[in-house]
Amino acid sequence: MPRVQKTPAGAVAPRRSGPLEDRRSAPERPAGGPSLCAGAARWDGTLRAGEGRSPVFAPVRPAGQEDSVSDDDRTRWDARYREGGGAPGEPSAVLTALDPLLPRRGRALDLAGGAGRHALWLARRGLDVTLADISEVGLGVARTAAAREGLALRTVALDVERDPLPAGPWDLLLIFYFLERRLAACAAELAPGGHLVVVHPTRSNLLRHAHPSARWLLDDGELPGLLGEALEVVRYEEGWLEEGHHEARLVARRPGVAAPPR
Ligand SMILES: C[S@@+](CC[C@H](N)C(=O)[O-])C[C@H]1O[C@@H](n2cnc3c(N)ncnc32)[C@H](O)[C@@H]1O
Repeated sequence: MPRVQKTPAGAVAPRRSGPLEDRRSAPERPAGGPSLCAGAARWDGTLRAGEGRSPVFAPVRPAGQEDSVSDDDRTRWDARYREGGGAPGEPSAVLTALDPLLPRRGRALDLAGGAGRHALWLARRGLDVTLADISEVGLGVARTAAAREGLALRTVALDVERDPLPAGPWDLLLIFYFLERRLAACAAELAPGGHLVVVHPTRSNLLRHAHPSARWLLDDGELPGLLGEALEVVRYEEGWLEEGHHEARLVARRPGVAAPPR
């Protein structure tokens, strides 16, 4: 079990990880997904998957099997971001409320970060941000928005089902509204003192909402148990937290002292 520094509100006993097919995003999620609005600036280039990759996230499906599933997701999300009219959306209030806890310098990775609403917010705060997502359209929206604002933003087109994570060490790793259970592996890519922030709906959400369907949800109480031993929990809450959705929210930290500014 991870070490717990602060007691979460509504915490329940962690459970083991579910089947592999549950590791993917919630494409039908009507709320909490990318709210499609604005942001923008200096884009300093696109990093392709394959450049600076960590060994984390070895392929979870054999070559050949993954393509149709991933292509479906990519197509669906590309369409969604096109419909958004090129606006990244406002950052979640859940993230902005964490402002005092999160680093203001160093390297941040927004995994499955969509059109960059969170990546842009982090870049405005001074972090060196990499945005990774399967949707090239979403990444393009983020780059355009970053360029408008004069912000540096790296983007990586990847499929987490088959591509490794961009190499750390990361001072901050965000995973918002994307079902990723390999958090213990992610922890290995965090810098000492680095933070992991995960927000995702859990199964109880089905009591009030048909979507996301069960396969895209965390089990109730599951999230802290996915961390392994390497991280300590800074904050964890779970329940009917906002907008009538049942979510788990977790901030965890890799023990150690953050490196001085580079
Ligand atoms: C609900 S959206 C969340 C986006 C962003 N985290 C946010 O909160 O605005 C899920 C994201 O997961 C991405 N995604 C889906 N499947 C993926 C995969 N296999 N690899 C990488 N990204 C994926 C989608 O393109 C989409 O941007």
